[in-house]
Amino acid sequence: MLSVSMLSADFGRLNEEIEKVNSSAADWFHLDIMDGLFVPNLSFGFPVVKIIAAKAKKPLDVHLMIEHPEKYIDAFHAAGAHYLSVHYEACRHLHRTLQHIRATGMKAGVALNPHTPVSLLEDIMHETDFVLLMSVNPGFGGQALIPHSLQKIKALKELIRNEKAAALIEVDGGINLLNAAQLYAAGADILVAGHAVFSSPAPQETIEKLKSYNLALL
Ligand code: DX5
Ligand code: ZN
Repeated sequence: MLSVSMLSADFGRLNEEIEKVNSSAADWFHLDIMDGLFVPNLSFGFPVVKIIAAKAKKPLDVHLMIEHPEKYIDAFHAAGAHYLSVHYEACRHLHRTLQHIRATGMKAGVALNPHTPVSLLEDIMHETDFVLLMSVNPGFGGQALIPHSLQKIKALKELIRNEKAAALIEVDGGINLLNAAQLYAAGADILVAGHAVFSSPAPQETIEKLKSYNLALL
């Protein structure tokens, strides 16, 4: 699957950018929420999420790069999120936070920074609907993928298998037409792409190509 990160969209033409994704083969809208504390950048908040929710014809995959994400779970649910991921590094009571997300009816995701080992998820796997592996340091779009991410995808796949869990693997950051096939082959279920899509002269074609690398494996 492919989740398109709106961080690289032209916010001056947000309606058109949303329509590009609506009429494409993309599966989800990926919305990156940054607070300037957990990551060294600010992005956008509820007013923008609500606008996208009102126009989106695909589920919203909201990635919280914020401190104390547990404070905002109900508000993101009310704003229209379907998938909500919180960072392992930002949660003191991750089990409780994931249960809270699930109780709203949303799917619960755990995001890991590049330095956080996947083995730390061993005791939380069955509370997790998806794991979001950051393949760049969070905070900015358009960075280069960290090659070690491939090994992390494989290790996570192994952990999910060993735990007999059902979590999906989402990979986020630096994904493009040159590395997507490798990431799917390593075990990724969902790829996030922002810069590669919105900097492309033909975003919808790029989305189809990014997805086709997965189909090629079937
Ligand atoms: C980075 C964000 C990513 C980012 C992906 O902090 O979490 O979702 O927008 O964008 P690209 O595809 O530009 O790396
Ligand atoms: Zn993201």
